[in-house]
Amino acid sequence: MSEPTGAARRRGPFKVGDQVQLTDPKGRHYTFTLEAGKSFHTHKGAFPHDELIGAPEGTVVRTTGNVDYLALRPLLPDYVLSMPRGAAVVYPKDAGQILAMADIFPGARVVEAGVGSGSLSTFLLRAIGDQGMLHSYERREDFARIAQENVTRYFGGPHPAWRVTVGDLQDHLSDTEVDRVILDMLAPWECLDPVAKALVPGGILCAYVATTTQLARTVETIREHGAFNEPTAWETMVRTWHVEGLAVRPDHRMIGHTGFLLTARRLADGVVPPRRRRRPAPGAYGTDYTGPGAQSGGEGAEQG
Ligand SMILES: C[S@@+](CC[C@H](N)C(=O)[O-])C[C@H]1O[C@@H](n2cnc3c(N)ncnc32)[C@H](O)[C@@H]1O
Repeated sequence: MSEPTGAARRRGPFKVGDQVQLTDPKGRHYTFTLEAGKSFHTHKGAFPHDELIGAPEGTVVRTTGNVDYLALRPLLPDYVLSMPRGAAVVYPKDAGQILAMADIFPGARVVEAGVGSGSLSTFLLRAIGDQGMLHSYERREDFARIAQENVTRYFGGPHPAWRVTVGDLQDHLSDTEVDRVILDMLAPWECLDPVAKALVPGGILCAYVATTTQLARTVETIREHGAFNEPTAWETMVRTWHVEGLAVRPDHRMIGHTGFLLTARRLADGVVPPRRRRRPAPGAYGTDYTGPGAQSGGEGAEQG
């Protein structure tokens, strides 16, 4: 049985063409591609790539300036944070949430928009594997090209499960029988009709948005739409810790805000979503509310 795409590049001794991530004594990272006969230069001397070719991961190399560097392959989170960017990337902490909460499984048929720099595409392709299908839509050709270069470099060649279409998702989405749709774009609420058509009953729509106004509009429009169950919205905060002797405390700096996530499930055709039994918070749909459903008092305004 042949190995899954990209797996051979993730293990075994270092080979020509592998990416190597060096860590210096201060914990700083440097990434380069292994080439026979070349040298890696630092401000504290150099060492030949040949010293690493054939060596196991986790090897320490010493420069001519007597400084030791630890050599490992970059992990996917390292890779997406250091690769060339067109648009802002989905951070690893959110990619992990998307894979878990949107229930991405091997063989899944997934639609994604926009592609941006290809960070989320790479995570999705690893999770669905060669037997899955990822169809990614991106309105900007230059971003699609950057994403294709990043994803192809990561897997060491084209991924057999990946297709990219340049254009707006709402104008081009023609896939059917899709298990999951992941939207990372400015206006997910504009895409609900084609997304509902594409998704199988029980399928998951997952949206990643940067601001509270986008979050509110997306959730309210999903409620109004009728083809989905009640959306769930959340964000995650990851705080690293300093652990040294008796000095055990949260690190001073953290990634404060990336974005909000929401998921909703596609109902079977013709099914009317069960009435919400929970009363909306007082004033939630008061006279100041102007969002989707405002005329009728809003779907969410039903009384329990
Ligand atoms: C934040 S970036 C996506 C980042 C990407 N998920 C990643 O991890 O690298 C948002 C992208 O959505 C694209 N976009 C916005 N609206 C779109 C639409 N309706 N259809 C397709 N692409 C869209 C933008 O051009 C932009 O590249």
